Amino acid sequence: MATTSPKQGILSPERASERDELIELLKKAYWMEIETVMSYIANSVNPDGIRAREIVESLEQDIQEELGHAQQFAARIKELYGVVPGSLDFSAEQSYLQPPEQQTDIVHVIKGVIEAETGAIEHYNRIIEVTDGIDWVTQDMVIAILRDEEGHRRLFEGFLREFEADGLA
Ligand SMILES: [Fe+2]
Ligand SMILES: [Fe+2]
Repeated sequence: MATTSPKQGILSPERASERDELIELLKKAYWMEIETVMSYIANSVNPDGIRAREIVESLEQDIQEELGHAQQFAARIKELYGVVPGSLDFSAEQSYLQPPEQQTDIVHVIKGVIEAETGAIEHYNRIIEVTDGIDWVTQDMVIAILRDEEGHRRLFEGFLREFEADGLA
């Protein structure tokens, strides 16, 4: 009796279509991270004012983390026999993280970051569900990244609470 379960897991030849589906989800995640790096660089430099300082410093740290996430997604795409896309395949989606009218409008930035992190959290939860029982390594990697994004969102929710308490948001 031949066994029906693939011996090489997600790297098995018979798992090619599942890999392709997964690679598309990972490419989307890769672009989300890349766009977040762009948005966080701009929003860590543009803001003016004392109240912006904590937010700017936090975003500066996040840039490195998001860049690391992008590199992890890229590496996993390759490990699954995919090809990391070139820059011409990129299309921007973060309308909510464009520079505000006034560079002192830090609430705009905080809300934009929360929206970006929420989008990442939703997409990564989906990858975790899709990989369940199929690709433990990708699932493990994305669970760790998801924790980072939840931490980012929680931090910025705290910033927003403070601005709301002060009647500024
Ligand atoms: Fe990220
Ligand atoms: Fe994040």
